[in-house]
Amino acid sequence: MPNAIEIRELRKMYKGGWTPALDGLSLTVRRNQVMGLLGPNGAGKTTTINIMCGLVEPDDGTAAVLGKDAVTDKLAIRKMIGVVPQQIALFGNLSAWENFRYIGKLYGLGNATIQQHAGNLLERLGLDKHADKRIARYSGGMKRRANIIASLLHEPEMIILDEPTAGVDVQSRAMILDFLKDYHAQGHTIVYTSHLMEEAEQICDEVVIIDEGKFVVNGSPQALVQNTPDCKRLEDVFLHYTGHSVRD
Ligand SMILES: Nc1ncnc2c1ncn2[C@@H]1O[C@H](COP(=O)(O)OP(=O)(O)OP(=O)(O)O)[C@@H](O)[C@H]1O
Ligand SMILES: [Mg+2]
Repeated sequence: MPNAIEIRELRKMYKGGWTPALDGLSLTVRRNQVMGLLGPNGAGKTTTINIMCGLVEPDDGTAAVLGKDAVTDKLAIRKMIGVVPQQIALFGNLSAWENFRYIGKLYGLGNATIQQHAGNLLERLGLDKHADKRIARYSGGMKRRANIIASLLHEPEMIILDEPTAGVDVQSRAMILDFLKDYHAQGHTIVYTSHLMEEAEQICDEVVIIDEGKFVVNGSPQALVQNTPDCKRLEDVFLHYTGHSVRD
């Protein structure tokens, strides 16, 4: 069986950019892993994710997702993966239910299936009592949880989440992490980005640190901490490899 993700020598320069967003990035995610893609601001995490899900085309290199090519087989990939974008991708003036019905239809799901899948997820992520409220009235944590539900309506094999816990409170974060642990335990692959090293340490069985569009180091959080001099936590490892200078 092919790996969940195989990225080889990806290069990407945006129009108007002065440095490459990706500069020969290679990485592998095995099936059933929880992989953390970590890096400072501007490292190229979102660009990598957008290439995986076919939203951005690389200038060079290849990206295969569950054995399908991210440039030539976008539609097949979209059916197999769920993507939780960094920005909330829901209509603020519609209720959660209205959003899920709309998104479910885009995936070709019938009303009964949408009702069932969204119903289960709303309950699991603590939003069942709020499903008729407009998204605009949701708190940051509720929006993040609804964003996750939207990506899972079509029951994908794997999920890619770009900072799914950015700006949420402790309670929402705990619920999201708990949910991801359960989802992984059901045999799914998870690729996830975060700036919170403690969180990555908690849920990832492997992390890849990237910086300036390049691969830096990978390994289990425990192995990285053990094998990097003077490091007690993943955050120390991260700073060891990426330095203390603030990114533009
Ligand atoms: N649409 C765009 N046009 C021009 N430059 C872009 C565009 N999107 C990203 N970039 C640049 O590409 C580089 C990588 O950006 P990217 O968003 O992939 O990083 P990131 O690791 O996700 O950062 P963050 O942690 O801030 O979300 C940055 O220098 C960014 O400014
Ligand atoms: Mg990003």
